[in-house]
Amino acid sequence: MEMENHIVDPIMPKHVAIIMDGNGRWAKQKGKIRTFGHKAGVDAVKASVSFAIKNDIAVLTLFAFSSENWNRPVEEVRVLMELFKLVLSSEVKKLHKNKVRLRVIGDISRFDAKLVDKISKAETMTANNTGLTLNIAANYGGKWDIVNAAKTMCAQVQDGKIVLDDISETLFHSYTCANDLPEVDLLIRTGGEQRISNFLLWQLAYAELYFTDVYWPDFSEEVFLQAVTNFSERQRRFGLTGEQVCS
Ligand code: IPE
Ligand code: IPE
Ligand code: MG
Repeated sequence: MEMENHIVDPIMPKHVAIIMDGNGRWAKQKGKIRTFGHKAGVDAVKASVSFAIKNDIAVLTLFAFSSENWNRPVEEVRVLMELFKLVLSSEVKKLHKNKVRLRVIGDISRFDAKLVDKISKAETMTANNTGLTLNIAANYGGKWDIVNAAKTMCAQVQDGKIVLDDISETLFHSYTCANDLPEVDLLIRTGGEQRISNFLLWQLAYAELYFTDVYWPDFSEEVFLQAVTNFSERQRRFGLTGEQVCS
């Protein structure tokens, strides 16, 4: 059964992660400055959230700012931070109304106090919502996530709270960001590059990867639908043979 931008499919991904790339090139193509592209990208964020809600996707994780992005021109970083604040101010109430649980993953201690406060208020306000979990990765790095988990775990060994033999993949996972969320089923990257750029590393272990040349500001519910349709046609084998999976 198919409706417009809404597919009822038993193999819909539970957790979709997106590397929202191509804002700068989108703007350049139009003869505008890079930050024009970031501003235009906000509409694509709204479209992706709307698609996720309509299609009962449980978790949507969006890569908004990487730990490496601090090295961009100061003015670009400033605009991105302002934009983050602006979007939080204008969208959180609507998200709350739509039962969205908003969370931010990443080292937010490097953000200014105003932004940290807005993030914390948005998380508290939406904490008990039962609809889509919208995870924003901000000042996030996959290596940071893993090192952070290792550090916390080692501290607990040192304090005698756990012993070396307790360490397992399951335990390690419990110290990583998004430890309470399902593994990523589908990773989408816009903007034509085919790389992970230090996004979720641990959590992507068995994700299906989908790359599109579409620049992020042009991402739409249609493009999301194409990605999800492509995902639903794949056979996920998790190390088994195709025959084992089918039986
Ligand atoms: C992604 O678009 C947004 C962020 C990294 C914040 P880019 O800004 O990387 O756009 P391109 O890749 O330069 O086109
Ligand atoms: C990845 O995009 C980070 C975000 C989308 C936030 P980049 O544009 O920073 O990635 P690279 O540098 O091209 O790998
Ligand atoms: Mg880029």
